[in-house]
Amino acid sequence: MSDIGGKSSSAASGQSGFGRQLDTFREVRRNLEASILPLATSVDGRRFSFQASLYGLELQVGSYVVLEGGDTRCLGQVLTLELDRQPVTELTLSGGAAGALEARTEVQIQYASGEGTVLEGHGAPFHNVLVRGASGAEVRAWLQRSERGYAKLQLGELALVADAPCMADASGFDRHTFLCGQSGSGKTYSLGVILEQLLIETDLRMVVLDPNSDFVRLGQVRTDADPTLTERYREAARGVAVYSAGAPAERRLRLHAAEIDPAMQAALLRLDPVDDREEYAELAELLARENPPTVGALTRSDHPAARRLGLRVRSLGVDRFTLWAPDESGSVLDAVRDQGIRCVVVDLGSLPTREEQALVAEAVLGDLWRRRQDRSPILIVIDEAHNVCPAEPSDQVVAMAAEHATRIAAEGRKFGLYLLVSTQRPQKIPDNVLSQADNLVLMRLNSLADAAFAQAAFSFVPPSLIERSVTFRQGEGLIAGKISPQPALLRFGARISQEGGADVPATWAAVR
Ligand SMILES: Nc1ncnc2c1ncn2[C@@H]1O[C@H](COP(=O)(O)OP(=O)(O)OP(=O)(O)O)[C@@H](O)[C@H]1O
Ligand SMILES: [Mg+2]
Repeated sequence: MSDIGGKSSSAASGQSGFGRQLDTFREVRRNLEASILPLATSVDGRRFSFQASLYGLELQVGSYVVLEGGDTRCLGQVLTLELDRQPVTELTLSGGAAGALEARTEVQIQYASGEGTVLEGHGAPFHNVLVRGASGAEVRAWLQRSERGYAKLQLGELALVADAPCMADASGFDRHTFLCGQSGSGKTYSLGVILEQLLIETDLRMVVLDPNSDFVRLGQVRTDADPTLTERYREAARGVAVYSAGAPAERRLRLHAAEIDPAMQAALLRLDPVDDREEYAELAELLARENPPTVGALTRSDHPAARRLGLRVRSLGVDRFTLWAPDESGSVLDAVRDQGIRCVVVDLGSLPTREEQALVAEAVLGDLWRRRQDRSPILIVIDEAHNVCPAEPSDQVVAMAAEHATRIAAEGRKFGLYLLVSTQRPQKIPDNVLSQADNLVLMRLNSLADAAFAQAAFSFVPPSLIERSVTFRQGEGLIAGKISPQPALLRFGARISQEGGADVPATWAAVR
């Protein structure tokens, strides 16, 4: 703390009692604390430490700062900020009246100190240069200079800078992305913003596994959407195809039994290859036939294994699944394979049972994995991933979906299979899916315990930034990774498309 004069001695000579002496003491301390200059030092030109007065402190964790003095002029970002204190002076409190006692006390001053990273500079060390908050214009100019020739996605506004957009690097979506935040923090809304921007600004194909029917209106423009974007969006949104159970004709969410791989058929029927070997063999034989018998024919069969198999299908209700389409051509898998369809929304939420939802999710993930050698880039979006591909699956079909998600997380990238996984429960996602994510989009977290979990999983993000997530409001977030090589705090922008399932408005709590 050499900048405030080091340890010095000063005397305050009060004339009218101890109270006056205390006032003097407080004033001396305040003056000392207010006089601390905001100064930064860097020994390597890459990271810096700084101090600043707590009076009028404008810096926060995540703030952009300008470091300037002498030959130095850098743009930096604050990564940690703490309250610090230090004894700096001794003060003599005079007793006032003649012969009264004098008291000597030490003045502790408090100030802010922290560390940051240099985002743009000359790379040389610097010492005691002034540090101040960067203006919106300075941050915007830096953003322009750091563009790398790839499409940019405007996700919203930077949180701690006035009037500066938050631009994500579209090319960063060739890595897996993890989106996490507590229920109601705005994950689905923000995911919609990301998908809209990808639709407008890139050619990346997408398939959205949508368990809550939140994206069924992704192709429809809101009436209050930003008019400067609506035309471009309308054009891009022509490529959005929504497959729902109740939709007519082409867009009906359906599958053919023959498209389902034998291992999944067995899982669906809860057949164990050893314990149920006769039925298992019967199923394999039936699946190999060109025209397999109906369930009714199976239950009437003379062959005991065939009859048992038929009864099993009946009692599990598999033959009553709404998604079978024996008399219709095409299926949702055809849509996912069709390079002419830009974005397939798989409306899992429209299916009446969890079994059907799991079956479709697994059919899509399994098919994408089996066709990985096609090397056609596609973003695989999984909302509510703790249900679609949980760490502890409830049954065999869900386990297969989790297994395929894990394989895609581990090896899909080089085949152009990129995950964008969203959940409120990161602990309930397979570890390997989490650990393979190179991009993080973090919304508000419930507790410091959740923040600690995210810090451990995403060590490439400064822990202090992740910790800030417990203070985020709805729609505020942090992005980091290849989509934002410098982690950025942001407020997500407004949606262009309509939300499928916005929260139920709390009109029942209106003031009477
Ligand atoms: N940036 C935003 N601007 C305006 N409204 C928002 C924003 N973010 C979220 N909302 C609204 O807040 C509500 C909750 O958001 P959302 O459904 O995205 O949360 P969530 O994190 O996905 O929750 P859950 O985990 O329960 O699915 C929705 O009604 C949504 O419209
Ligand atoms: Mg949601």
